Amino acid sequence: MKFFVDTADIADIKELADTGLLDGVTTNPSIIAKSGRDFMEVTREICGIVDGPVSAEVVALDHAGMMREAEVLRKIADNVCIKVPLTIDGLKTCKALTGEGTMVNVTLCFSANQALLAAKAGATFISPFIGRHDDNGFDGIDLISDIRLIYDNYAYETQILAASIRHGVHVLQCAKIGADVMTAPPAVIKGLFKHILTDKGIEGFMADWAKTGQSI
Ligand code: G3P
Repeated sequence: MKFFVDTADIADIKELADTGLLDGVTTNPSIIAKSGRDFMEVTREICGIVDGPVSAEVVALDHAGMMREAEVLRKIADNVCIKVPLTIDGLKTCKALTGEGTMVNVTLCFSANQALLAAKAGATFISPFIGRHDDNGFDGIDLISDIRLIYDNYAYETQILAASIRHGVHVLQCAKIGADVMTAPPAVIKGLFKHILTDKGIEGFMADWAKTGQSI
């Protein structure tokens, strides 16, 4: 499973990229607002740190406007992936951009039928929002399962990018179902490395090693 980080925080992106386990970055208008940075500038900086896809979202709501914005954004770097909302105009834009060889991430997906439409539009990634789905009384993980089934039925190449991930159990469940990618906040990814028994085990081994008086 590919790991993307859902942030525009440069320090966090660098720290995770240094592990060699980071495959890409996703942003959205809220993440850019939180960063306090200029959209173009921070996106360019992120694209220079990570080789994989970096999602940059359009803010126009009409097809012509989305195409105009995508034209600006895709010039930033070769690894920019244009993010469009799951609307009729968004999917028209997706179809046009993927036809030109540009990566597209279709975002704000809350139903398997929406995911089916995105695949038909040739999306590179579909982003179903698990956490927000759960928050509204639905089962975000069931949504991932349904999309996996449908995409496998028709051998669609669109990658399932599980988004709005809130904790490690979401990551585990997505991996078991076979989501292609997951994007999570830095804290969730860093939390995956941790286990209380790993910490206690290291503590015990270090204490016993010190008693030997040896060094390597
Ligand atoms: O970037 C899309 C998605 O991951 C947002 O997550 O936590 O704002 O629901 P969240």
